[in-house]
Amino acid sequence: MLTIENLQAGYGKVHVLHGISIEVPKGKVVTLIGSNGAGKTTTMRAVSGMIKPLAGTIKLNGKDIHGLESNQIAKLGLAHSPEGRRVFSTMTVTDNLILGAFPRLTGSRPKGDVKGDVERAMELFPRLRERRNQLAGTLSGGEQQMLAMARAVMLNPDVILLDEPSMGLAPILVEEVFRIILRLKSEGVTMLLVEQFAAAALNVADYAYVLENGAISVHGESQRLKNDPAVRAAYLGTGSHH
Ligand SMILES: Nc1ncnc2c1ncn2[C@@H]1O[C@H](COP(=O)(O)OP(=O)(O)O)[C@@H](O)[C@H]1O
Ligand SMILES: [Mg+2]
Repeated sequence: MLTIENLQAGYGKVHVLHGISIEVPKGKVVTLIGSNGAGKTTTMRAVSGMIKPLAGTIKLNGKDIHGLESNQIAKLGLAHSPEGRRVFSTMTVTDNLILGAFPRLTGSRPKGDVKGDVERAMELFPRLRERRNQLAGTLSGGEQQMLAMARAVMLNPDVILLDEPSMGLAPILVEEVFRIILRLKSEGVTMLLVEQFAAAALNVADYAYVLENGAISVHGESQRLKNDPAVRAAYLGTGSHH
């Protein structure tokens, strides 16, 4: 599980997160909701070590990971599927997936069966199976997005950070992404999810936090937030029940 306490982070002199606390319990899906620029991506970057937090504590399974390098954090079992398509474009789909497992091969976590997990990833993402030998750079944007998500799953992580996995996808692929999130959830994968489709995120999540200008304004059970008039008005495009 992941525990974030009083996290502060930013870029140079730009202070973005002003001390946020988030708990992602084992086996649960927690969603972080907020407008563009609220600091959702910054939160994920600070947790996974892409940027150095300014203050606060971040614990993965009780171990303090604040300030560690991102590869060390991955080895400890935290995967980050970042915003935007981050794939190795000159490598094949299969090789991208195998690389996703690399931190577990070099770390102290169970090595597992990488070949078997590549098969499992392709079962989860059938489109990737069809394109397994294709260079990742020649995939469509949506397919690259799915490959980034599949690569995160290849770590067999204890916690997975999903930053806008459905961004830029055609509606049918958006549905597929949410199906995959539900499937991972049913397998007990712990997730922190950021999604442009807040209503859909609240439907798959157990718990939700609302981030406003780098601070948590509201948090609670997803179902409760879904029915909160202020949350509905600000993030769900509707102010009333129907
Ligand atoms: N690399 C960066 N350098 C400077 N400022 C940044 C950088 N990335 C994001 N920001 C700023 O940090 C704030 C939060 O951005 P971000 O975390 O990406 O928000 P969100 O993911 O919620 O849309 C914004 O004001 C954004 O302009
Ligand atoms: Mg973002």
